Amino acid sequence: MRISVIGCGYLGAVHAASMAELGHDVVGIDVDEAKVALLGQGKAPFHEPGFEELLERNVAAGRLRFSTDFADVAGARVHFIGVGTPQQEGSYAADMSQVDGAVSALLPHLAPTPEGPPVVVGKSTVPVGTASAVAERVESRGAILVWNPEFLREGFAVQDTISPDRMVYGLSRDEQAADTGRAVLDEVYDDLINRQQIPRLLTDYATAELVKVAANSFLATKISFINAMAELCEATGADVVQLAEAIGHDDRIGKKFLRAGVGFGGGCLPKDIRAFMARAEELGVDEALGFLREVDSINDRRRDHVITLATDLLDGKVAGKQVAVLGAAFKPDTDDMRNSPALDIAARLAAKGARITVTDPQAGPILAEQDRPDLTVAGTAEEAMTGADLVLLLTEWRQFRDLDPAAVVGLPNRPVMIDGRNVLDPKQWRSAGWTYHGMGRP
Ligand code: UDX
Repeated sequence: MRISVIGCGYLGAVHAASMAELGHDVVGIDVDEAKVALLGQGKAPFHEPGFEELLERNVAAGRLRFSTDFADVAGARVHFIGVGTPQQEGSYAADMSQVDGAVSALLPHLAPTPEGPPVVVGKSTVPVGTASAVAERVESRGAILVWNPEFLREGFAVQDTISPDRMVYGLSRDEQAADTGRAVLDEVYDDLINRQQIPRLLTDYATAELVKVAANSFLATKISFINAMAELCEATGADVVQLAEAIGHDDRIGKKFLRAGVGFGGGCLPKDIRAFMARAEELGVDEALGFLREVDSINDRRRDHVITLATDLLDGKVAGKQVAVLGAAFKPDTDDMRNSPALDIAARLAAKGARITVTDPQAGPILAEQDRPDLTVAGTAEEAMTGADLVLLLTEWRQFRDLDPAAVVGLPNRPVMIDGRNVLDPKQWRSAGWTYHGMGRP
């Protein structure tokens, strides 16, 4: 099937390559010329495991190309919209300009194909109510809208796109349009539905939009719940890692997403819960999401907690101290630094006068190219730790988790470690001569 994918960020680029991998003929559209040029040569503009191989293979096979020209979507039966919806400056609400722009640019190119009407498929995370407004616009050009939210996690984006745990189709109220939209999307995802038998739920537009933000709100709540327990553990001398393991044995609770630490970050959870609160307020049901305010505050407090702990461990005098920060990305296996707890903490300590040396296997080289006079970037953890008065592990990359405490104890000026992700073995680090501090652990 001929497919266009509008927006070639973490979501759109991976979606485009994955659709080509399923055998479709795909064009990816983005306004960023440099990004389009890279993608067209089969080179990934960001780090995502398995993505570059997928890209290279499908570009070489002639099934996948990229363009900045919207006219190149002509002839496609399906148009996916995968542009960003970041948080608006000065507000909690989502900035919808990219979605609005994509739809406006697409409209003149929507035309019936020999197989039938074109189908526009929304994948971006949007405030509830967006889909029915977009539907009106695309229907005016004879197209059908399906809302098909994306649940991919960075670091697992390829796997989550080709083999998601579920699919949701938000369909039109018009039965014929709904049938056609569903049938066309079933054909696109034939391998997922018929071979992999992945559950597929058919809903209305509003439910499909809400599924995405509800899922992210639940995940954020789970993380903030365990981080709130970490605060209790810090006040009582209890151990949140053991607590999480013990409650996680109850499968109604489950063990996943109960890792206490510096809190959640990234391009999704923080802005999605805020946009959800903003939308609820517009709808007059802000009380229903009052708890998300708490979820957000608990999350912010984790970063404050690390700054306070670091300040205490530096005897209250941060200015002029040498601090090593292991990690800059918001989580491992990505180079994404959007709303990264690690980078935020590093910048805030730098603002208090600390001399920060940060290292990150993938985000480090990007950071080094930015104009950041407050941060020095080191190539390795060992280099960053050398001469440090304090070491902070803030993104749990394997190379940091695997550090041998005995081998690196001689590098810093003072071997003091804040393990912001609770991934190091306290016993092992302490017996190697380190002063170890976890999050919510004695
Ligand atoms: C998230 C959702 O998981 C995904 O389904 C959605 O499509 C997009 O948003 P992502 O932003 O890639 O994906 O990251 P995720 O793996 O969910 O982690 C989010 C943040 O929570 C990270 O900063 C991570 O370090 C943190 N986290 C996660 C914790 O602090 N503790 C945990 O137990 C789990």
